[in-house]
Amino acid sequence: MTTETATAGTPTETGPALLEISGVSRTVTARNRRRTLLKDVNQSFEAGRMYAIVGPSGSGKTTLLSLASGLDAPTTGTIRFQGRDISEMGLGRYRNRHAATVFQSLNLITYMTAVQNITSAMEITGVKSRPGARKRRAVELLELLGVEPTEHHRRTLQLSGGQQQRVAIARALACEVDVLFADEPTGALDHETAESIVEVFRKLAHEDGKCVILVTHSREVAAACDEVLQLKRGRLVPA
Ligand SMILES: Nc1ncnc2c1ncn2[C@@H]1O[C@H](COP(=O)(O)OP(=O)(O)OP(=O)(O)O)[C@@H](O)[C@H]1O
Ligand SMILES: [Mg+2]
Repeated sequence: MTTETATAGTPTETGPALLEISGVSRTVTARNRRRTLLKDVNQSFEAGRMYAIVGPSGSGKTTLLSLASGLDAPTTGTIRFQGRDISEMGLGRYRNRHAATVFQSLNLITYMTAVQNITSAMEITGVKSRPGARKRRAVELLELLGVEPTEHHRRTLQLSGGQQQRVAIARALACEVDVLFADEPTGALDHETAESIVEVFRKLAHEDGKCVILVTHSREVAAACDEVLQLKRGRLVPA
């Protein structure tokens, strides 16, 4: 048990949280003006739980995910994964082995097919060594998320927004990481499809023991999570 991490909402007697954000702030400069987007954010996230982060547009939700997933560095504060500062671990190593993101802007490689987008991510992160196994897993995930077989080998540029969103989710799931960050993962989906995707995330947390952190504007999606946190004037508070 570490005592140095004994800040608000953190350590348990069983050891450090899976992911722990301590005293994190993020200040940016835009048009010569400094703006503090996040102020003293303290929050721990546990394995086997699904969290929702809510808040108005522009409140800093994507910024917070970028920090927690190692894509951006905080102005102050630390982010620890299994008790280790991720900047000391190396952000590349943290991202490759432990964290995956479904981006708000998807960031698919549009000239590649749905399957290629997924298998190339698996290749980078070292999941499954044989190309055939990677391909089979990609198809399995696309089927799980309801992407029609006729779409699996089309360039993602030619897919609908909802189909692209599910390819992006499949790509993140394929990386088999400990923490899955998903930024508005159901924004382009109809109600029924969104529900089935949320069920996939719930199983990932509750059955596979992963930590799922979703940003959402949907009340239904937030209500399906174990914990709902709200960004309010730069601070993260229980909703
Ligand atoms: N690097 C940066 N430099 C300047 N401004 C930034 C930077 N990153 C984010 N911002 C600004 O910070 C604010 C918060 O952005 P962010 O994308 O985190 O909001 P959000 O809560 O995800 O919003 P939305 O719900 O619309 O996706 C926005 O006004 C954005 O323009
Ligand atoms: Mg955002």
